[in-house]
Amino acid sequence: MASAAVRVPAEADAAAGFRGAMRRLASGVAIITTKGDDGPVGMAATSITSLTMEPPAVLVCINQSAGIHSCLAPGCPIGVNILSRHQRDVSAAFGGAVAREKRFEVGQWVPDRHELPMLDEAQANLTCTVFSMTPFGTHSIVVARVDAVRLSERVEPLIFQDGGYL
Ligand SMILES: Cc1cc2nc3c(=O)[nH]c(=O)nc-3n(C[C@H](O)[C@H](O)[C@H](O)COP(=O)(O)O)c2cc1C
Repeated sequence: MASAAVRVPAEADAAAGFRGAMRRLASGVAIITTKGDDGPVGMAATSITSLTMEPPAVLVCINQSAGIHSCLAPGCPIGVNILSRHQRDVSAAFGGAVAREKRFEVGQWVPDRHELPMLDEAQANLTCTVFSMTPFGTHSIVVARVDAVRLSERVEPLIFQDGGYL
């Protein structure tokens, strides 16, 4: 049977086709946090990926224009807060809807023993240390080792797809 799929010729508009493809990729959402010189900083990211089990490590792709980017370097502590289904407001705030200095007013944030901001009621809180930052185009691929993990009781992740939440 013929498929109703819309084909976007790569040579005609590769960027639109790529954007459309990525809108079809469902992803969990995490808030990446660290300690800046003037207080906590954070942003929403869907590009968080499990990298290796040995050692436990993640990668996240961060736009070089994002406020958090200039706060990061190898050896820096970062928090990775994997959002729960009920935390859309936190995702939106840290995705840019709320000014940087007011974002931590959205959600219940508590500092861990390294003073990294950690989100209460997240699906998981990972305490990590940046291992490397590799620039690629507009972004940096940040590899971080996982030092500690806190898990919620239930698995109810927030899922982002097609510009909205499931
Ligand atoms: C659901 C969602 C996922 C996002 N994922 C990423 C991502 O993986 N990498 C990235 O650089 N920006 C991502 N963004 C955009 C940043 O969160 C956004 O540009 C943020 O405002 C950057 O922080 P700043 O305002 O402090 O510069 C995402 C935004 C949303 C809402």
